[in-house]
Amino acid sequence: MGVIEIKNLKLSAGGRVILDGFSLEVCPGEVHVLAGKNGAGKSSLAKAMAGCPGYEILGGDITMDGTSIVGRQPDEIARMGIFLAFQNPVAIPGVSVANFIRAALQAKMVKGSPFNAVDFYKNLQAKMEILDIDKNFSARSINDEFSGGEKKRCEILQMLMLEPKYAILDEIDSGLDIDATKIVAVAVNGMRGPNFAAIVVTHHSKLLEYVRPDFVHVIGDGKIVASGGVELMNKLEKVGYGFFGAAGEGE
Ligand SMILES: Nc1ncnc2c1ncn2[C@@H]1O[C@H](COP(=O)(O)OP(=O)(O)O)[C@@H](O)[C@H]1O
Ligand SMILES: [Mg+2]
Repeated sequence: MGVIEIKNLKLSAGGRVILDGFSLEVCPGEVHVLAGKNGAGKSSLAKAMAGCPGYEILGGDITMDGTSIVGRQPDEIARMGIFLAFQNPVAIPGVSVANFIRAALQAKMVKGSPFNAVDFYKNLQAKMEILDIDKNFSARSINDEFSGGEKKRCEILQMLMLEPKYAILDEIDSGLDIDATKIVAVAVNGMRGPNFAAIVVTHHSKLLEYVRPDFVHVIGDGKIVASGGVELMNKLEKVGYGFFGAAGEGE
């Protein structure tokens, strides 16, 4: 049985149906890649899975470890073990990276349990080193005036600190140079194991050279129109989305 099961999902946002008949099963230890045209609904799916407001599930179901997440609040879903790295993370002026992550970690903890600030900062610095992030970065306001690459690394930093069971990584490689892509990929690979699973949204096969996914899916017309292995991504780069009948923005 899948640890994440999306069954016949019908999803709407802004009064428009974005996904209809979308199904995907992710088993323990697996990494699935989702590719699809701009506007195909990848980020909407990611946000619906994290419980973001404005994304309405009109039909079907999304379960994690057999429990439906439909109708649950984002914090509740996060506590169930899912983490979403946003394609466009929002800035929160006045809230530092360190304090943001600390608050997210504390929200996951059992109420009243002690928090060791010294261990937290040590761990944060160690994870920042893995991601080749400057020491002073954690004191900056989160995503405020961050470069594209800094935003992506900051999303991955949060994942490494929160150690979720499941992650949805929405275009974490967009705007990254080759070295940064490799650093992010190594960090994702470090999370892999029987107790972790991920859905990775990407347009680029470069990331897949480092993060070897178990499956690649193409989304179009609100559902999955093709599934395969890494070779499907290579084919996509050659023939384009149109080949799969995967209509998106502008079609
Ligand atoms: N909150 C929203 N309100 C209205 N329309 C939305 C909202 N979120 C996404 N959409 C629309 O849904 C479609 C899919 O968007 P998105 O999920 O961001 O696609 P992708 O990530 O595949 O590029 C687009 O046409 C987008 O404008
Ligand atoms: Mg998107």
